Amino acid sequence: MSDDLKRRAAAAALDFVEPGMKLGLGTGSTATHFVTLLGERIRQGLDVRCTATSSVTEDHARRSGVPVEDLDVLLTLDLTVDGADEIDGAFRLIKGGGGALLREKIVASASDRMLVIADAAKKVAQLGRFPLPIELVAFGHLSTLERVRTHLSALGYDGSVALRANADGALFRTDNGNVIADADLHRIDDAEHLEASLTLLPGVVECGLFLGIATHALIASEDGVERLER
Ligand code: A5P
Repeated sequence: MSDDLKRRAAAAALDFVEPGMKLGLGTGSTATHFVTLLGERIRQGLDVRCTATSSVTEDHARRSGVPVEDLDVLLTLDLTVDGADEIDGAFRLIKGGGGALLREKIVASASDRMLVIADAAKKVAQLGRFPLPIELVAFGHLSTLERVRTHLSALGYDGSVALRANADGALFRTDNGNVIADADLHRIDDAEHLEASLTLLPGVVECGLFLGIATHALIASEDGVERLER
C-alpha cells in the first residue's frame, strides 16, 4: 500500500517537469518510481537533461532510458525530485535512509527547486523519530564516532549512535567511500543548531538534515496527493 502511495506521489511530480529542464534524480524507492515514469515520458519524446544522486539511481536511470550526465557538466539544475525519511511542517527533512545523503544534498542545493515526493507516513510534526544519518570519513571513523556521541550527549541526546551495517554484517559504505552513523535522537528540538554543530566536527562529512532546501512537496495518502509549497 505504501509503495502504491509512493508511486502516486512520483506520478504527480511529472507535472513539475518541463521540456528542456535540467533535473536532479533522487535516491530511494519513491525516487525510483519517478525515474521509471520519467523514462516513459522520455521515450514519448520529452527532452530533459538529468544527473543522479547515487550509483543505484544512475544505473536505474540508464536502464529506464533516462540520460544521465555528471553534475559538473550541468552545474546548476532547475528541479530535483527526491524522497525523504521525514518532512515537517516547515519543509525540514531527514534524509539518508538509503545512504545517499551527501550527493542528495549537493544535487538539491544545486537546484532552483527541490520537490519532495513521499507517502503520508513521512509527514511528521516533529523531526527525530527516524534515526539521523551522519556520514563520516572512513579514516578514523571509530574515533569520530566517539566525538559524535560526546557531542550529541552534551546537547542532551541520550539515544544510541551506531555505525550502519549491510545485511551481511559488513560496514556500509557510501558511494563516496565513507561510512554512516545512525543517531537515535527521538526528538530534534533545534535542527539548525544540530546540523551546524555536527558538520563542524572533524571527520563528519554531512548529516541527513535538509534545512531550507526543499521548496515543494507532494504527499500521497488514501485521500489523494497533497501539494505543498514553502
Ligand atoms: C536516500 O538516501 C534517502 O534519502 C531516501 O530519499 C529516503 O530514505 C526515502 O526513501 P524511500 O523513498 O525509499 O522511502
